[in-house]
Amino acid sequence: MADQPIFLIVDDEQEVCNFFGYLLKQKGYRVETANTGAEAFGKLKEYTFSTALVDLKLPDANGLDILREIKQVQPRCEVIIITGYSTVKSAVEAIQLGAFDYVEKPFVDINEMEELLERSLDVKTEAEKISLAQKDLGFVIGKNQKMIRLVSAAQKIAKKNITVLIQGETGTGKEVLARYIHSASHRCDRPFLAFNCGAFTETLLESELFGHEKGSFTGATHKKKGIFEQANKATLFLDEIDSASPAIQIKLLRVLETGEFLRVGGEEMCKADVRIITATNANLAAKVAEGKFREDLFYRLDVASLSIPPLRERPDDIELFIRYFLEKESAAKDIPIKQLSEEALRLMKKHSWPGNIRELSNTVAQALLLCKGKVIDIEDLPDRIRKEIAAEKPVETETEVGDEKLFFSGTFKEGERLDELLTQFDQALLESITFRDGFPFETFNNTLSAWKDRMVAQIIESAIEDTYGNQAKAANLLGITPRALRYHLQKGIKDLK
Ligand SMILES: Nc1ncnc2c1ncn2[C@@H]1O[C@H](COP(=O)(O)OP(=O)(O)OP(=O)(O)O)[C@@H](O)[C@H]1O
Ligand SMILES: [Mg+2]
Repeated sequence: MADQPIFLIVDDEQEVCNFFGYLLKQKGYRVETANTGAEAFGKLKEYTFSTALVDLKLPDANGLDILREIKQVQPRCEVIIITGYSTVKSAVEAIQLGAFDYVEKPFVDINEMEELLERSLDVKTEAEKISLAQKDLGFVIGKNQKMIRLVSAAQKIAKKNITVLIQGETGTGKEVLARYIHSASHRCDRPFLAFNCGAFTETLLESELFGHEKGSFTGATHKKKGIFEQANKATLFLDEIDSASPAIQIKLLRVLETGEFLRVGGEEMCKADVRIITATNANLAAKVAEGKFREDLFYRLDVASLSIPPLRERPDDIELFIRYFLEKESAAKDIPIKQLSEEALRLMKKHSWPGNIRELSNTVAQALLLCKGKVIDIEDLPDRIRKEIAAEKPVETETEVGDEKLFFSGTFKEGERLDELLTQFDQALLESITFRDGFPFETFNNTLSAWKDRMVAQIIESAIEDTYGNQAKAANLLGITPRALRYHLQKGIKDLK
């Protein structure tokens, strides 16, 4: 009888203790109960438990403190949190602290409850539980403990119909994680719709999100369904949520509270059952503090909060990611797998990866194309990785012309410096022209146009490089739409040799 599972029920409501006591004893398990935190701490000294059910609100203690204590003194004991509706946010926190699951009072489905209790006795290791993710979705989790805990929490949260806020630097995999949550949720057979709030102007954003009625604004020639209507019963991923304007924030708040919204120019209330996952690489809490983001909306979005660590905080995973992308890219381009030299690996491990996994993935793809032999070496790596580390001093980003350093930045006044530069260039060009033997005007004109397109494309390429391959962000920096960005890029690249 020594290893017969023992359950601990901690709840100040005696009926809850009786209910679980009855349910579990019927199945032949041993049960101990406690009505206060103090009693619970006492029982933990006396018995070794398999599973503890812990109410979040106790007269003398917080359920989260009991959870922490259990994980400290009996790490093999699984903890199921009992919560009321108002404390769901703390229950989600409990999951992140390692709780097995949480259940909401009142308990409606006894079968589900029984199943959960049985499952808690048969817990696999975290790594086993999340291994599925890697294969199916191209989602590499790695060995970093923080990341493993995060994905494990995400998997549990996925099953609940709650909103999730994913934060993390650019390229850390926020969208990949959102897709993973969707695929582990009950909505997995419905679509996952991804929508970037930062890629639209305010008016367009409202109509894209909520749809519009015919004639509601110039150009609205048809009635249009918005993304919320399309996402009914599905998962909607709202990226760069921090760029939603105050007006959009109010509409979002309303949808989250009531599931209702109006189309632009519409009077009929629409309803949508949408599971929302949002992401941002801004610090949303700080935006709230600065008055730039609504606090009430923040709390609605931030029910479950997941924060992905940057790649530089998980250096042990760099090699694993390199191997993963080497294999993936070789297969996609149908080229034989190449090795990485030790020196190249050493440099890549030392790099700080400000663009995180996206930057790493792009770097591997680029190196694979540049490398002529079988082994990728340092000369196949981009300058920013070689220079930064080899010289161990910061890369100069400014262009030098004579003694002057030129900066074209957000503060660059319309054309001022550029105009000055181009005037010098015009003069040099004009001085070199003579009409004595005739002049090939058409060719000259075409060459100049192609030069302009190429220049524009090169500026765009630099912006994309600066955002580590994120075209939406590059477009944002340049103040153009992603579509315009692709147009200019293609136009210019045609002429690039
Ligand atoms: N864990 C991962 N496993 C495999 N690939 C990943 C992982 N994380 C990110 N990637 C790859 O890195 C790139 C960037 O990922 P993603 O778009 O999810 O980042 P993000 O955090 O949303 O970035 P941003 O803030 O710039 O929008 C994608 O190509 C994605 O496939
Ligand atoms: Mg993203």
